[in-house]
Amino acid sequence: MKDYMVKDINLAEGGEKRIEWAGGRMPVLSQIRDRYEREKPLENVNVVACLHVTVETANLILALRAGGAKIALTAANPLSTQDDVAAALASAGIKTYAFRGESDEDYYKCLNDALELNPDILLDDGGDTITAVHAAEKTQKIKGACEETTTGVIRHRARAKENKLAFPLIAVNDAETKMMFDNRYGTGQSTIHGVMNATNILLAGKVVVVAGYGWCGRGVALRAKGLGSNVVVVEINPRKALEAVMDGYRVMPMLEAAKIGDLFITATGDTSVIRGEHIALMQEGAILANTGHFNVEIKVNDLEELAVEKKEIKENVVEYRMKDGRKLYLLSEGRIVNLAAAYGHPPEVMDMSFANQALCVRYIVEHYEELRNEVYSVPKNIDEEVARLKLKSLGVEVEVLTEEQQKYLSSWDLGT
Ligand code: ADE
Repeated sequence: MKDYMVKDINLAEGGEKRIEWAGGRMPVLSQIRDRYEREKPLENVNVVACLHVTVETANLILALRAGGAKIALTAANPLSTQDDVAAALASAGIKTYAFRGESDEDYYKCLNDALELNPDILLDDGGDTITAVHAAEKTQKIKGACEETTTGVIRHRARAKENKLAFPLIAVNDAETKMMFDNRYGTGQSTIHGVMNATNILLAGKVVVVAGYGWCGRGVALRAKGLGSNVVVVEINPRKALEAVMDGYRVMPMLEAAKIGDLFITATGDTSVIRGEHIALMQEGAILANTGHFNVEIKVNDLEELAVEKKEIKENVVEYRMKDGRKLYLLSEGRIVNLAAAYGHPPEVMDMSFANQALCVRYIVEHYEELRNEVYSVPKNIDEEVARLKLKSLGVEVEVLTEEQQKYLSSWDLGT
């Protein structure tokens, strides 16, 4: 088997420069990398990573390698690979199996090639690698895994609930220093970037329908509002729906929103959020995009069935003409628009996400014997360390409690 499968190894030089640029904006991960270089905590550890192959991911991979790990990298999505980055990693000797535009068959071939490394640790984004090793019953050597995203965590919790998880797993997604920053500000900015890159539409004055008001949806709504859009939120959870109302958005079911939206963005992690019955109601020119992990949130099959003609307008934009003459536009095949049509989350937030990943890999190596085959939260001390290091890198100091204040907070007998 070849040590890499990338689009064009000659793209490496451009990739190296971009990886360095991003690394300069990832100070927490850089510090961890320096520490790992000195301490080598990952010597003799094989890591298979199924992540979006971006400049930020490259910096994580290089930090793990500095710690002594052997790594094989495969893509977490057929459209998210930055080919220059894949080339740079492959030429730096990392086993890299990823290229933009993989078919489903290529995707699984790359994943299985990466698994040939015989991993001790898995890093997953979305859960496909963890599903694959369970299906192939290749879990014996695996000491543990980390999951990067909400969709994956949902799948692993379901598996664990049925006692079918074969190794401990850390839900990196749920760390506060991950979810509140990467999911909100990362998804918010990069999703809008993806839509703008693909379409260059003016967002001011548009009705933007955001489906899902978790951290990702909140971020998308916030940024669309900031650009002057009139944001409508579609949400199933009453507490989150109420939050959206008080954040100043209109909230309604998709059947209502479908009639008024200019741009639809799904960020739910669930399937069939936009389907035939909604597509039938949409206005001429409506644009549909998904920023959830899998391409199931917009029912593309329904769009295909309802359309009488389909044509590619440009990369990442396909026009569907309906029987009644309306034209609707689908971005990036309904795949994760922020990575398919833009660069994904900026390095400043991936710094915290991947610092958590790097520290959790070490945690598993040092603690796997005490862990059960369950889904664990990121240890509090890791989450707090990431916040502390990030603040330090920003030159921000926090207030310190006085002795009197500490005493006050830990007492129960002081009142009016
Ligand atoms: N997920 C979202 N944005 C990402 C990025 N820039 N790199 C890796 N994974 C991501």
